[in-house]
Amino acid sequence: MKKIELHLHLEGAAPPALIRALAQEKRVDLPPIFDEAGGYAYRGFTDFLRVYEAATSVLTTPRDYARLLEEVLGACAEEGAIYTELFISPDFCGGGDLHAWRDYLGAMEEVAARMRRHGIDSRAILTAVRHFGPDRARRAAICAAETSGGWVTGFGMGGAETEGKARDFAWSFDCAREAGLGLTSHAGEWGGPQSIRDTLALGVTRIGHGIRAIEDPALVRDLAEREITLEICPGSNIALGLCKDWRAHPIARLADAGVRVTVSTDDPPFFGTTLRKEYDRLAEAFGWHDEDFRRMNLWAIDAAFCDTDTKTSLR
Ligand code: ADE
Ligand code: ZN
Repeated sequence: MKKIELHLHLEGAAPPALIRALAQEKRVDLPPIFDEAGGYAYRGFTDFLRVYEAATSVLTTPRDYARLLEEVLGACAEEGAIYTELFISPDFCGGGDLHAWRDYLGAMEEVAARMRRHGIDSRAILTAVRHFGPDRARRAAICAAETSGGWVTGFGMGGAETEGKARDFAWSFDCAREAGLGLTSHAGEWGGPQSIRDTLALGVTRIGHGIRAIEDPALVRDLAEREITLEICPGSNIALGLCKDWRAHPIARLADAGVRVTVSTDDPPFFGTTLRKEYDRLAEAFGWHDEDFRRMNLWAIDAAFCDTDTKTSLR
């Protein structure tokens, strides 16, 4: 099955072996972030963010990001993806400085163009990190606005959802919208229904996760009516303890209520997942068939931050 993935953090997709190799090459002593088997080790979401940022600290040059992107898109293609949207934080690519960001972007655009010729298309969603605060989010939005139009087609926000208020980031989302970028943000992962409502007020057309909408039937109806697309990452939610197991995950109930759900992997090596595993587990848990996944992928194409010709070619 050809798959569309809308929610994959480039830094969070970094294979542990690449992070270890870069640390060795740069003679950097990383804090304890690996388990005995060589995977990432963390306890809970706050610790996940620490390990994520520590691993990312060895990605210090445009060349490192080019190497990372090539590995990540190669892995996406192996999972059957034909189109992937990558969350990338300018905070980690030159500290939010526009000049530095352009260098990182140039290196990544070359890789993305080459990988497109190998059958995996992609776009970048520049991402503010919520717990870094509104000032740094503004710098990320300026990087996004100033480099929008080519590979950069979206602006988003991840990080610690319960820190600060969504409206503190309104300037950044307005700036990105005025530049013609698509808008999405994590919400309803750690925060409840009100967090999703506050995030919708930023003008997003998609929500990263959004699973806690299930706690509020009126919100579920609203999401369905407004055709808001949820970028759901069930393996991530289960690994981080938000859902007990696959059968308890609300994705099927949201889909049954008419919400446009899609499936992504978030940070696959952190959560021991791959796109194929997500599909397999959903098929096992809910008896979903090819036509269910096909419908989901059509919703993903509708909601994708790319031009209509690309959408037509993906269908
Ligand atoms: N950044 C990377 N993964 C994330 C997640 N699951 N939630 C919030 N921010 C993230
Ligand atoms: Zn995410």
